Amino acid sequence: MLVLGIETSCDETAVGIVEDRLHLRSDVVASQVALHARFGGVVPEVAARAHLDAILPTIDRALADAGAQLTDLDAIAVTRGPGLAGALLVGVAAAKGLALATDLPLIGVNHLRAHLEVAQLEHGDLDVSDGPVVALVVSGGHTSIIALAPDGTMRELGATLDDAAGEAFDKIARYLGLGFPGGPAIDRAARSGRADAHDFPRPMLDEPGYDLSLSGLKSAVVRELDRLDAAGTPVHLPDVAASFQEAIVDVQVTKTMRAAADLGAPTVLLAGGVAANSRLRERFDAACRAAGVRFVVPSPRLCTDNGAMVAASGSNMLAAGRVHDLAMEVDPGLPLGSA
Ligand code: KG4
Ligand code: ZN
Repeated sequence: MLVLGIETSCDETAVGIVEDRLHLRSDVVASQVALHARFGGVVPEVAARAHLDAILPTIDRALADAGAQLTDLDAIAVTRGPGLAGALLVGVAAAKGLALATDLPLIGVNHLRAHLEVAQLEHGDLDVSDGPVVALVVSGGHTSIIALAPDGTMRELGATLDDAAGEAFDKIARYLGLGFPGGPAIDRAARSGRADAHDFPRPMLDEPGYDLSLSGLKSAVVRELDRLDAAGTPVHLPDVAASFQEAIVDVQVTKTMRAAADLGAPTVLLAGGVAANSRLRERFDAACRAAGVRFVVPSPRLCTDNGAMVAASGSNMLAAGRVHDLAMEVDPGLPLGSA
């Protein structure tokens, strides 16, 4: 069973091909990072136009890399939400065209669910035989702690009340002049900084429940930089990056591990673009070892947006007999639980 997955929800035009749900055959990402960098963030109209230019060559390359033809495929999967409306439309239009031309089933995939399900390409199906999986999905637009029950249902345990983690990384990086995208820039800068150089707050850390708040941390970083500036104290950017990163990582690890302990979850899954962060991965790895819990995280390349995750999630839907027809529409606000 060969499924092609198309991802155009934000600024990566990406196409992946997955065989029999678990095997990655190809994964091609045409990144628009350079295009958006001069604007300091993703410009929706620019993204949609760039997707239009890149989509067909990216599909061709994914097929060539997999050594496959359109006629070898069993379904066309595409992200239908959440994401930028204009950007999503390009992928969905391309997928509909392909499905119509090949007479293959069309499968609309939930981008957030795909971030979680891509783990199966490197780790096999998640083991839910001994209890639920607690997952943290952290991307540019989402930060949620989720329980995946053995019957496949998902329940959101908590979420950010304000900024998503990726958004906080991107905003602070912009403030520090580290450029776009901010997450990888802070990750890099932090490596030569001291995480205890600045004492930034860990909002809501001690409050019960699993909700998070990240905008107060962001304001605290801005206030600290203003204070240093007013005092004429030179700022060592790597120290600020490392201290900010440590605080935001602390909040995510603490809340997720608390949820895992409360639910008696034997597995913790980390997913989404921010899951590429080296310190977040390191701290989760250590926390899971200490708690005697399995830790599952995709390779950094499969954490940030890619087509393989759409193909993986689409394969699961195809196997479950859940396909769409050509009337399927994009849904920029698609919630995590829906297909
Ligand atoms: O999942 P993703 O690729 O796109 C969305 O669905 O939003 O996530 C993008 C986010 C951006 O905010 C980016 O700065 C962040 O993931 N990110 C990182 C790292 N790599 C990507 N954040 C922290 N550290 C990283 N290494
Ligand atoms: Zn994403």
